[in-house]
Amino acid sequence: MPLPLKSIKGTKIAIVGAGSVGATTAFALLMSDLAADIVIIDIDVHRAEGEVADLNHAAHFAQARVRVGTYADCAGAAAVIITAGVNQKHGQTRLDLLRTNHELFEDIVPQIAIAAPDTVLIIATNPCDVLTHSAKQLSRFPASKVIGTGTFLDTNRFRHELSKTYGVSPRNIHAIIIGEHGDSQLPVWSLATISGMRLKDYCVQAGIPYSHDEMEACAVRTKQAAYEIIQRKGKTNYGVASVLVSLVEAIVTDGDAIMTVSRVGDYVGVQDVALSMPCKVNRDGAHQEVPLLLNEEETEMLRQSAEEIKGAILSIEK
Ligand code: 2OP
Repeated sequence: MPLPLKSIKGTKIAIVGAGSVGATTAFALLMSDLAADIVIIDIDVHRAEGEVADLNHAAHFAQARVRVGTYADCAGAAAVIITAGVNQKHGQTRLDLLRTNHELFEDIVPQIAIAAPDTVLIIATNPCDVLTHSAKQLSRFPASKVIGTGTFLDTNRFRHELSKTYGVSPRNIHAIIIGEHGDSQLPVWSLATISGMRLKDYCVQAGIPYSHDEMEACAVRTKQAAYEIIQRKGKTNYGVASVLVSLVEAIVTDGDAIMTVSRVGDYVGVQDVALSMPCKVNRDGAHQEVPLLLNEEETEMLRQSAEEIKGAILSIEK
């Protein structure tokens, strides 16, 4: 059972990185009333101070206090969210950011691990899967305590796309994206349902035509979404911030929520890699207790995705 809201008073959440994702997350978290103490850490202290001052003008409408901190202030945090790093620019893939952001992680993750050895680390920086693997190695935390936002964002984008096609709320569409938070991600069509019915059956019962091409187009738009947004506004922030807040909610309420998040494990014959599969998220982190039932084609696509990420992990170890 999720914990009642009263028990989360006193909860501290630290956010590393006061850029657009970090600041948007801090604002969404402040408005959610899930934390009493929000600490923002950034190498650019001036920028962090500016964001904190601005956020505290919104604190009048919320319960938490927001403050600038150092890594030592991660002590006792229920979760530490890492958003720091260079962003994807127009024309870049997430994997293009790898080396720079891995070097940054070498600096920040050990400091967090010393200050907050029992926290849950949440990784939003890209390439999310590879850096989830880096963060696990650098922190020496158990796999369950290092969670990448992974394809939970893509899953939400996918449900949004399907919801426009079917005219059903995204909350009532059970469809997931797994694998890499990147170009090799895959939709799990074989398990997608609306009203408990597979999509084809739903169409028959609803009297609407089923179009395989239209479904594939939803998956393509999902995969392309970040590129499209970055081309227009230079970054993405709201989607990932809302994913981060729902992860915090699952952690601080011990919610046992099922989310497609990234964590380190062995997948489809590829050892020691991080990718997204449905996990149960609660105060102890992300747990993969129930193996997903995939068909042969999906298993093969997942293997290719795992190999793509593994290749990137190995490239930084050289
Ligand atoms: C996103 O998908 C860029 O990974 C970021 O919004």
